[in-house]
Amino acid sequence: MSILSVSGLTVDYPSRGGAVRAVDGVSFTLAPGSVLGIVGESGSGKSSIGMALMGLTAASHATIGGTMTFDGTDLLSLNRSQWRNLRGDRIAMVFQDAMATLNPVLRVGDQIADVFRYHRPKMSRREIRAATLSLLERVGIRDAARRIDSFPHQLSGGMRQRVVIAAAIALKPDLLIADEPTTALDVTVQAQILELMDTLIREQNTAMVMISHDLDVVGDVCDQVVVMKDGVIVEAGSVDDVLSRPQHSYTRQLLDARPIFGAGREAQYG
Ligand SMILES: Nc1ncnc2c1ncn2[C@@H]1O[C@H](COP(=O)(O)OP(=O)(O)OP(=O)(O)O)[C@@H](O)[C@H]1O
Ligand SMILES: [Mg+2]
Repeated sequence: MSILSVSGLTVDYPSRGGAVRAVDGVSFTLAPGSVLGIVGESGSGKSSIGMALMGLTAASHATIGGTMTFDGTDLLSLNRSQWRNLRGDRIAMVFQDAMATLNPVLRVGDQIADVFRYHRPKMSRREIRAATLSLLERVGIRDAARRIDSFPHQLSGGMRQRVVIAAAIALKPDLLIADEPTTALDVTVQAQILELMDTLIREQNTAMVMISHDLDVVGDVCDQVVVMKDGVIVEAGSVDDVLSRPQHSYTRQLLDARPIFGAGREAQYG
């Protein structure tokens, strides 16, 4: 059984010279609770897949083709209000830049609470406050009772990304899409955030699509991986197979392009 099945996905962006095909026939399936990595160089179409899975391509006037089936629902048949109900509840996303995701003029607790207010209108204010506090504690924010009333700029980059993750997992989504969730953070914080995400999704059996250009990140967190080039999957398989026995020359190039100290990531976990 799979929670997500993507078949022949295409994403076309309009441009002056005609449509640009950013994703060209991508297929994969994801079992509940499992983690798929999408890797590939800049412009290979990774984020376009993530945006399609979140129903967020309308703003860029993209045309989506193929099929995306989430827990038996054909995602391409959803209207805007159906998408709004699904998004943030059953499918959630964590982007690279927490500062761009968070609203700078709202307290972080209120931004998490908004998820409950929107999707769980029957919850009382007190219940929402308690749920928000417990989420902040779960994502490792110390002194959560005080931090709940902080503004984003009062928190470090790593703490802000923890807040974003708290909001994303608040309703225990079945699918979490993470698009370069640690790229904006320094290396030690990156390792902590990855470990946190790994723990949280495994605790609540959330499946995850982890988009990253960093093969070490993928090796640490993912079960399966697809390697993208120019909108096409050039290689797919279990992380162990693809990273230790790459079949495609492009995958080998990506592996060879890793900085030498990248291989030492294990050490940061202590
Ligand atoms: N909103 C958009 N409008 C037009 N073209 C776009 C848009 N978003 C992406 N593209 C184009 O689609 C292609 C794939 O872009 P995408 O952002 O999906 O790649 P990516 O693999 O996520 O790259 P990166 O690693 O730099 O984030 C690129 O050629 C890009 O220029
Ligand atoms: Mg991207």
